This record gives sequence, C-alpha cells and structure tokens, in this order.
Amino acid sequence: MLLVLVGLGLTCLPLMAQPGGDVRIIPRPQQAALTSTSSHALTEGHAIHAPAALAAEADYLAEELAARGLNLKVRHRGRAAIGVVLKLCDTLASPEAYRLDIGSHRVTIAGSTPAGVFYGIQSLLQLLDNAPQAGATLPVGTLTDAPRYAWRGFMLDEARHFFGREKVLQLLDLMARYKLNRLHWHLTDEQGWRIEIRRYPRLAAEGGRGDWSHMGQGPARYYTQDDIRDIVAYAARRHIEIIPEIDMPGHATAANRAYPEYSGGGTKAHPEFTFNVGKDSTYTYLTDILREVGGLFPSRYLHLGGDEVAYGIDAWRTDPHVQALIEREGLADVKQAEAYFMHRMTDSVRTLDKTMAGWDELLDHRPDTASTLIFWWRHDRTAQLRKSLAGGYRTVLCPRRPLYFDFIQHASHKWGRVWSGFCPVEDVYAFPDPLLDKCGFSDAERSHIVGLQANLWTERVQNAERLDFMTWPRLCALAEAAWTQPGRKDFADFSRRLDDAYRLFDRLGVYYFDTRDPQRHPEPRGAEQAGKDTPMDFRD
Ligand code: ACM
Repeated sequence: MLLVLVGLGLTCLPLMAQPGGDVRIIPRPQQAALTSTSSHALTEGHAIHAPAALAAEADYLAEELAARGLNLKVRHRGRAAIGVVLKLCDTLASPEAYRLDIGSHRVTIAGSTPAGVFYGIQSLLQLLDNAPQAGATLPVGTLTDAPRYAWRGFMLDEARHFFGREKVLQLLDLMARYKLNRLHWHLTDEQGWRIEIRRYPRLAAEGGRGDWSHMGQGPARYYTQDDIRDIVAYAARRHIEIIPEIDMPGHATAANRAYPEYSGGGTKAHPEFTFNVGKDSTYTYLTDILREVGGLFPSRYLHLGGDEVAYGIDAWRTDPHVQALIEREGLADVKQAEAYFMHRMTDSVRTLDKTMAGWDELLDHRPDTASTLIFWWRHDRTAQLRKSLAGGYRTVLCPRRPLYFDFIQHASHKWGRVWSGFCPVEDVYAFPDPLLDKCGFSDAERSHIVGLQANLWTERVQNAERLDFMTWPRLCALAEAAWTQPGRKDFADFSRRLDDAYRLFDRLGVYYFDTRDPQRHPEPRGAEQAGKDTPMDFRD
C-alpha cells in the first residue's frame, strides 16, 4: 500500500527532502538545509515581487507556476511579507550564485545577477515538482548555491541530421532546468548547411538538401534567419547563450555543393571537403557569411571549427591557387597554408567584434592567447590539452571520452561509437577530476578551464528518439559535473535523484536511456544504411 501511495506522490511522510537531508535537485546544490515544515508561500492570491531589472525572470516564474496550476501575479512595486520575492544582491560569491530562502509564507530568491536569480527559480521549480506531496508544497529552509564552472555546455550537430525548431526548444527548456548555459550549434558540415545566408541563398537552398542518411538528396532543411532570431531569444530568456559554428576550412562539402567556385577540393573519401584558401575571393565570401551569422547571434564567440582539415588537405598540394599562395607568402607547405587561413579568418572575426573559438587543432597555428577559446576534444591527445592550459588559453573540456554522446553508453548497445571503451553515465558524472589528477595539472593551469561541454554528433542519430536516447540522462550527469564542487558529488545519490528526471521525461515523451532498467527503453537503431555505417567504428 505504501508503495502505491509513494507512486502517486501521496505519502504522509514528513517533508524531508530525502534521507540524509539531500535535496531533490539536479545539479546538486552546494549547501542545503531544508526542514520538514511545509511552506505556504506559493498560494493563490500571493504575488511575485521583483524589481524591473528582474521583470523577465519574474514573468518566466509566473508562467512556470501557472503551468502548474498556481496563478501568482507579478508586482514591481511595494514590499512583500508574503509570496515570492526576487532580488539582486551583491554579497553573493560569484556571478551565477543564488540564495533561496523558503519561509513559511515567503520565498526569497537573491541572485548576484539575473542569471543567479534564474537558477534559484530552477531550484524552486524542481523542489516543487519533486516534492513527495502533490500540490504547492515546499519545505522550509535555505539553499546557497553557485556553479563550479562558468561554461556548462552542450553541442548539437544539426548538419548530419536535422531535428528542427520544436526539438531545439525542448532541449533548451531541459538545459535550463539543469542550469546548463551554452548551446554550441554545429550548423554546417559535409552533409548539410543549416542556416539561411541572405547574400548567398544557395548555401541553405542547395547545401541544406539531404543529410548523412541521404547525401545531397531531398528537400532543403535549414533555419531561416527569423527562426534563428526566435530560438536565440528563447534561449536568452533561459540564460542560455548560443554559439554558432561555421566549420572551415574543412567540413565544407555542403557549402561547396552550393558555391563550387570556393572549393579547395578534397580526397576520394571526402570529395570537395575544403574551402579554397588560395583565393582572395574565399576570404570575402566567408567574411560576408560570418557578418550575417555574427549579426544573428549575440554571443561574443564565432566558432570556426578548424578541425580535421587533414581529411581534404591533399588536394591543396596540386591546387594552383593554394600553390600560388604558398609561393607568394613564402609558406613551407600546405599545413602553413592552413595556418595562414586561420590567422586571416581570425582577423575577420575580430573586425566583426567577435572572439574566435575553435577545436584544439587551432593550437597548432599558435593563435593569440587572449582572444581565442579552445575546445579540447581529442581525448587521446592530452599533450594538446597541456599545451592549451600551459599556454594560458581559455579552454572548454569536451573530450570524446567521456563527453561525446554519439558514443554508446552501455555495453549492450550497438548503434554508436566506441574507442577502447565508451561513455557511460558514471564516467560523464566523474569527469573531469580523474583526468585532471592523472595529468597533474597545476592550479594555474586548471584556472584556464572555463568549463565542460558534451557533444552530440549525429551521424548515427537520425531521429528525435535517438537524440533523446543518446542525450538523456547523460546530460544530467554533465550538468552536475559542471555545476557541483567535487566534494559534493555522489553518484549513488545522483542516481536516486535521476528518478525525478525520468518522471519528467516520461511526462514530456522524451525517450531516455533508463539506467535503472536498461531493457525498459530498447536502444533505437542507428541510421538505417547498414554497410555504410559500421555500428562500432572509429571516426578519426
Ligand atoms: C570533431 O569531433 N571533429 C571536433
């Protein structure tokens, strides 16, 4: 009987958050002291009081509460003894810190910035949703919280397969719930160009045709500039910054399908893989593209990829334009032509008032330390990470293992990558301390790590069901790894709190991997074209 009642959320047990005083919030807060007394702050007729500077956060909270059947009006004047109070406070530890005080009739959320207040709201909503008693019950008590890392990111590849606006909005909602704050959007690659560029309309109209499963075939699928503006605004309301990636000079096949005059060729395995770094017109073309992209995304970063150029660079050895460039500039070889290209594009990024971001190959070209953000992805090359940190580069950690979510997550899974192992949720959760300790990085080196990011490449992710399955619950683990201080992490406790995430996913129809029962949601098949894709292959 008790089990039935627990299942319905109707127990009369005292309102402790969980055994051991834990709070049912992901990521786990730094400090929590909740009691078994119930608060009555969220009562119909009470209001949300907030200064004008927090109007967006107050409206967001009012909408979220209304969706839970609680109608609280927003007020920007007067003092409040009851209801919800949002306020800015300059005594908190860091820019995204917050303090959530739940009294018997008043909830106060103080943040050092609007983002901090927003994270306090997320904790409040999780306490409400995850309370053992149904309805507007909250435990009285206090949370004091702040993130470990400033960059808590997820990368979505929509070039290989396209998922569209509704899926991205759902992803942003869930990212916000788990206090993730960066969406790195991989919008261009061999298989597709997914962003409208008005000056070069064929990029989307031609380059957007097909996907990894249907190379160059089928209707064009891409985001119009209006779509992008809407999605960026939706993300900003949730304190998520979107960083666009326009990959160059490799991974350019879809663009070259649309405008072959800028192609630098490729190899048999990767035809038309590169932009032509020898032509001046290529720099004008790419700078024009970046100007439009930069205007759509308020992020200070433009991510220019720069990875895996080696897949296509052989073509440059015989390309007359690249050879003329090498001759004219006194470069030693095609590798130096690549460096020349990256430096010139970095100058373009700077003239657009943006900062260059790119994959860890960029380090080979000795970019400017102060104005480059490095994404370390090659887990088998820790020397490259050392170079980044010792060189003082701001660095995002997103190594294939354990943070590439196109890798399988369970030994029984077949449709995903492996590389002497895979990426189970435990490894995501434990990251990055085992790596940092193994490498023996100094405090000074560690201080250049801006945060963590999981990357979902989508060659093997051809529909929303597979996207969900590969993402959840690993992204919850990444959120806690990036937010919670190592001394507060506890995998067993996290696994218990995942029950709350699973209930939410069930309600939303998100097809997650159920770590409690691996058979419950069978692994969806990867891209159908067996023979083209080996389930257990290597990409690099
Ligand atoms: C990458 O996986 N090529 C960054």
